Amino acid sequence: MTDDRALRITPPPHRTDISDVANLHVSDHPLILHKLALLRASGTEPKKFRELVRELAMLLTYEATADLPTAAINIETPVAPMLGQEIAERIGLVPILRAGLGMVDAALMMIPYAQVWHIGLYRDHTTLEPIEYYNKLPVQPTTSMCLVLDPMLATGGSAVATIDILKRWGTKRIKFMGLIAAPEGVRHLADAHPDVPIHVAAVDSHLNEHGYIVPGLGDAGDRQFGTA
Ligand code: PRP
Ligand code: URA
Repeated sequence: MTDDRALRITPPPHRTDISDVANLHVSDHPLILHKLALLRASGTEPKKFRELVRELAMLLTYEATADLPTAAINIETPVAPMLGQEIAERIGLVPILRAGLGMVDAALMMIPYAQVWHIGLYRDHTTLEPIEYYNKLPVQPTTSMCLVLDPMLATGGSAVATIDILKRWGTKRIKFMGLIAAPEGVRHLADAHPDVPIHVAAVDSHLNEHGYIVPGLGDAGDRQFGTA
């Protein structure tokens, strides 16, 4: 018997090999998996969607900051003096406008002393190239580690452009934190900036012909701000 079932199974289109990307961290925490499914569902309204973006960003911040350096400090408990630990790095949060805004409060809740530097980029609808329209970085870098926040890593153009800007600014240590990535975006970011760890909740199948992540969640900015 000819097994024609094999002929009917087509591989996902545009699959990009990212098996060699050592700096990619995809969370498998059950809370993240649960919240991500709610986030993706098309019936999830903007209010709930924003709550889920916040909650996921908080959980991912916890994971993405696991290697922050700490320094010993003297403290006194009500019972005795002791050595405690404090974070020994000045941290900058860099949300990519618009959709990255939804992740800022959560990251700030976890790192209240962080500075926030906004970068505004949008993707040109035909070329998918990032266009910069806002940049509020001061002349000199004021932080030693920057956490770039954007829910979606699609072609990777926006993340790569933002990290180019941060490196030109003088930031030495940079991490990217997102919710959903396409393999194409992971490949692009890892090739352009192999020193930048990528922390995401999921890597999906591929990009469609419009540059949207499949299955993804649609347009992260529109879904947060009700502008679809
Ligand atoms: C979305 C998203 C990322 C970008 C990802 O922003 O928030 O910034 O697309 O795509 P890329 O990896 O192909 O660059 P968008 O351009 O839709 O702007 P918005 O956040 O203002 O809606
Ligand atoms: N930007 C989004 O908001 N969603 C995608 O799927 C791709 C880019």
